[in-house]
Amino acid sequence: MRMYDLIKKKRDGLVLEDNEIRYVIEGFTKGEIPDYQMSAFLMAVYYKGMNDHEILILTQCMAESGDMVDLSDIPGIKVDKHSTGGVGDKTTLVVAPIVASCGVKVAKMSGRGLGHTGGTIDKLESIPGYRTDLDREEFFEVVKKTGLSVIGQSGNLTPADKKMYALRDVTATVDSIPLIASSIMSKKIAAGSDAILLDVKTGSGAFMQEVDDAIKLAEVMVALGENAGRSTRALITDMDTPLGKAIGNSLEVIEAVNTLKGEGPEDLTIECINLAANMMVMADLGDPDECRRKAEEVIGNGAALEALIAMVEAQGGDASVIRDTDRFGKARYIREVTAVSDGYVVSMDAAGCGIASGILGAGRETLDSVIDYAAGIILEKKTGDEVKTGDVLAILYTNDEDKLLPAEKKFRESVIIENRQVERKPLIYALCSKDGVKRFDGNF
Ligand code: URA
Repeated sequence: MRMYDLIKKKRDGLVLEDNEIRYVIEGFTKGEIPDYQMSAFLMAVYYKGMNDHEILILTQCMAESGDMVDLSDIPGIKVDKHSTGGVGDKTTLVVAPIVASCGVKVAKMSGRGLGHTGGTIDKLESIPGYRTDLDREEFFEVVKKTGLSVIGQSGNLTPADKKMYALRDVTATVDSIPLIASSIMSKKIAAGSDAILLDVKTGSGAFMQEVDDAIKLAEVMVALGENAGRSTRALITDMDTPLGKAIGNSLEVIEAVNTLKGEGPEDLTIECINLAANMMVMADLGDPDECRRKAEEVIGNGAALEALIAMVEAQGGDASVIRDTDRFGKARYIREVTAVSDGYVVSMDAAGCGIASGILGAGRETLDSVIDYAAGIILEKKTGDEVKTGDVLAILYTNDEDKLLPAEKKFRESVIIENRQVERKPLIYALCSKDGVKRFDGNF
């Protein structure tokens, strides 16, 4: 077999055989297929697509390219959650403690920030002492003891995806349904949970800008999960506007803690309760209404917050910052961004807000950039809100004064104020499961 012939076959829109896909993934993972040929192959897939069977084989080969985690030593149903990436998306920090305090085990590997999107691991590392690099025994022990553990991805999980993603990132081949679906689902399948909840984002800050494309991606991923014997559901949620009010690492942890106390922003609270309820449904804890009630109950009685505290302590973190979030390190420089005209916020571009937060120091410019954990943005107004001249739109936080002006410029470019009212976008568009797609009309 020759890589040249397989690139040509896909370029010409033909269907690849199972052994041909295996040849590509194994050869690339071992370093036998060079980056330039793999880049051409990825671009051919980007343009010509893959059928469902090709995507299934691609995903299996990628999952099997490294360690397959076996969680069977941990008693109970383990449910994983994955977001396709967003701005202000701190849902894992809220949802994992909610479901764990209801009896669902969460043994989760999360990622770092990518581009304009934040990463759960960076957020957790803003808690002093919190270790994201537990070994297998420590990881299992924390889940057994506290019901949940969130760590960074282990060294040899899906090495094929690691190499392919790095190449896609620099060859404009990220936003392709076969490539995103296989990338995400290979990791989820290899990570070993019994059930998987996907949070597929749509809108300006997401890979899939259109709802219908997000639903298509969700359908493909649900089929891949079910095919691998994992109960899988996907919620399609909005990422046109950042989620909640906080963007940036410790700012988002603080907002997650407030949400676990029942004092979080309404959009974040509603989304987290629905994500948690769907995880509980897959763990057979009841129907969606019962599970939503359970989620609200563990927020109300403090059990969910205690679950977060237990995990932080078990992973070496200083839980006093969770008990009293005023103890988080503060940014030295703070700047209010105020409205220069009256009107309504008609759009607040999530990607632009993420980039502004990155400029303040909350993200990485290069792989080895050092994150400023206190940096970020608190949004005081969001899409649909009325504003008067001089109202505070947002507060910027950083430890580097020189970053304030460029970040403000980027933030201002991302917010459009006009003299007309707009409808807020729905928070949750649809649920996708093995039973099909259920679209919501603001009613979920
Ligand atoms: N997240 C992933 O892990 N992979 C993708 O391809 C896109 C988002």
